[in-house]
Amino acid sequence: MENGTAKTIQICMGSACHLKGAPLIAQAFQTELDKRTDTTATVELGGAFCQSQCIDGVVVRINGETYTHVTVADVPALVDICLREE
Ligand code: FES
Repeated sequence: MENGTAKTIQICMGSACHLKGAPLIAQAFQTELDKRTDTTATVELGGAFCQSQCIDGVVVRINGETYTHVTVADVPALVDICLREE
């Protein structure tokens, strides 16, 4: 579905980010989105190829914006950012 307001969360699944815990962060995003049942359907959660910022991993793209050094603790705030943007 492409309606111009789709929100996306893409977690880098390259090997460096994987080693730094990207799968745990992906799980944390899923858990956080599940808690917000009214908004889950509007957010597309997925993986991304290496973002060429391996040294700054874990790298996450929220609505096209890149965030680095992401940890599980950052996930609720990043979901807030994702949902807040128009
Ligand atoms: S593996 Fe994530 S930026 Fe390269």
